[in-house]
Amino acid sequence: MRTPQRIIEPGARHDIPRHFLDIDVVDASDLRAILDDSLRRKVARRGRGQVELDEDPPCVGRLLAMIFEKASTRTRVSFDVAIRQLGGESLLLRGEDTQLGRGETIGDTARVLSRYVDAIMIRTSAHENLLEMAAYATVPVINGLTDRTHPCQVLADIMTFEEHRGPLARRVVAWCGDGNNMATTWMHASASFDFELRLACPPELAPSPSELESAARKGGRVLVTQNPEEAVESADCVITDAWVSMGDDELERRHDLLAPYRVDERLMSRAHKNAVFMHCLPAHRGEEVTDAVIDGPQSVVWDEAENRLHVQKGILAWCLS
Ligand code: CP
Ligand code: NVA
Repeated sequence: MRTPQRIIEPGARHDIPRHFLDIDVVDASDLRAILDDSLRRKVARRGRGQVELDEDPPCVGRLLAMIFEKASTRTRVSFDVAIRQLGGESLLLRGEDTQLGRGETIGDTARVLSRYVDAIMIRTSAHENLLEMAAYATVPVINGLTDRTHPCQVLADIMTFEEHRGPLARRVVAWCGDGNNMATTWMHASASFDFELRLACPPELAPSPSELESAARKGGRVLVTQNPEEAVESADCVITDAWVSMGDDELERRHDLLAPYRVDERLMSRAHKNAVFMHCLPAHRGEEVTDAVIDGPQSVVWDEAENRLHVQKGILAWCLS
């Protein structure tokens, strides 16, 4: 399989599509520009209806294909609304309804779709599928979640933290639970946004050593512990996610391993008094987080969900500019 080497070269332009594949392969200055643009658009739209266009919409006449090989509520709706507000339109493709479901390769699909649409957003299982799509597409490809990463979500989370608490640089972010795709993306973000990440995970579900080494090599400050209290101590942000991600098995074993990592009021009280609580959603109330925390005064989860829309507008505008 060809790997899309070209996209990891900072500053690549011209005929090379501007993919948004992962936080650790986009320049930190571009990530900051996307966040600034997203916030500017969010503020400028206050009071407008959801079907009203942005002023000066940058994607008029542009078509976004959205491929979903896994379930979604937020990603599907927020990308659809985002491209419409930017002046474009979207096309929804469910993996099993296309020839992908009957064995047509991702590479061939990428080449065909590139003749019809202006950008492709894909949610798939294997990260290699995303990379293959990017290697063969001649239009920008956006990662809408893989088993490895979920960069649109973490960028929206960073926007949310900064709206509530100011710059994330030199702050402490604590993750409690599964060392999953969200945890890996937070590791990527640690280097780009210069914060300390403390991951509390059971050893069986910790991020892989190669992901940790890669994050450290890129300048990420990541501490891994088995102790959620150590991770959360004086932290500025506490995050968790589902104990069972899409595609995971061994439900009972996961529940047993992750029960000590539940975010409840007692654990939140160890964080800084101004700490925020974040969760990408969907939440499993009573499992990874209690009602008291997710519905409590420190929770910013609904702003996080809203910011998916704003940040993806920044991403689309960046990809298609
Ligand atoms: N957080 C997130 O990506 O939600 P969906 O699975 O509903 O898209
Ligand atoms: N870790 C979760 C995130 C869902 C948005 C999953 O992959 O299912």
